[in-house]
Amino acid sequence: MKNVNKSKRKIKIAVIPGDGIGPEVIAEGVKVINAVSEVLNINIEWEYFPFGADYYLKTGKLITEDDLKTLRKFDAIYLGAIGDPRVPPGILERGIVLALRFYFDQYINLRPVRLLPGVETPLKEKRPEHINFDIIRENTEDFYIGLGGVIKNFRSKEELRIIREIYKIKFDIDIETDSRELAYDIGVITREGAERVIEYSFEYALKNNRSKITFVDKANIIIHMYHLWRETIEEIAKKYPEINYEYEYADAIAMHLVKAPERYQIITAPNLFGDILSDLGAALMGGLGMAPGANINPKGISMFEPIHGSAPKYKGKYVANPIATIWAGALMLRELGIREGHDLILKAIIEVLKEGKVRTYDLGGNSKTYEVGDEIVRKIKILET
Ligand code: IPM
Ligand code: MG
Repeated sequence: MKNVNKSKRKIKIAVIPGDGIGPEVIAEGVKVINAVSEVLNINIEWEYFPFGADYYLKTGKLITEDDLKTLRKFDAIYLGAIGDPRVPPGILERGIVLALRFYFDQYINLRPVRLLPGVETPLKEKRPEHINFDIIRENTEDFYIGLGGVIKNFRSKEELRIIREIYKIKFDIDIETDSRELAYDIGVITREGAERVIEYSFEYALKNNRSKITFVDKANIIIHMYHLWRETIEEIAKKYPEINYEYEYADAIAMHLVKAPERYQIITAPNLFGDILSDLGAALMGGLGMAPGANINPKGISMFEPIHGSAPKYKGKYVANPIATIWAGALMLRELGIREGHDLILKAIIEVLKEGKVRTYDLGGNSKTYEVGDEIVRKIKILET
């Protein structure tokens, strides 16, 4: 396993530790990857960027066009967490996380849901062999495109008529005052946008020995978007006769994931449903502290992050579980073509969890964030000798 990277190509990674517990967990991820690069003889160079709440409050800047251009020179981005109670919700999330996902067109959000041995799931009687699937979330469209608005005063007669009707039908009132208000957000699915995530899902199934994909939507209610979604699936599925596929409505799959998670191998979902289902998935695998995510542009620059947020109230306490972030780091190595590095990290995580001596409070222990990182590093060194 030694010297996998014979050319010793230099891999450049941009690190954005971010807010709250972000810097604490990212430090462990960097530590673990450094240990792996030592044993596998890989050359990794890290460069840190300050984007996040403090930087925003100090400079008024989120992430600029120039920043994004600078990030283009890197092989990957490693992100801690973004979000802070001092900033109104949405500003940092949209201005940093979504800006990065959209700018680099990371149209795949891959979120493995795997119950590792030694970790408890809230589902009684379910064991690691029952909870092992991947969520592939479309990451650029749907209700995330930010198209919408608020209409306060309806100017045209036509608008006024429509809104009166809506009020009348829904609330059985006639509105005549100026207080009428309406807010809307539009979801969009394009044929190309659907094609690329569906195609990716089938290819992913082939590469990872999965035989079934479950496609999620709400095609019984939101008919325009999700009919196009299904049409595209039908079209692409023809090219992959060896892979089975099925459809499930978002509400039904939420229930079935709790009752029978063993049914699923790959779940491919539009952006918003994928967002919701992946938090459910995180709960099944032992909590947000365990769940990694990868924002992938297969031909561009991808970004890796835990799916949890910045948990501001735990900042500086070093109690957060770094495994989600360390696992996201493993996904980063795999995406960069260093599968051995990925496998080694995962093996080490599993060893540490099985032993159960070093674990954070969310897993019933009282170890510190950095003790978990140190223990995983120790295991990596043992596994390699
Ligand atoms: C996630 C988060 C993000 C999302 C936020 C922080 C933009 O919830 O990664 O799941 O909604 O995609
Ligand atoms: Mg989310």
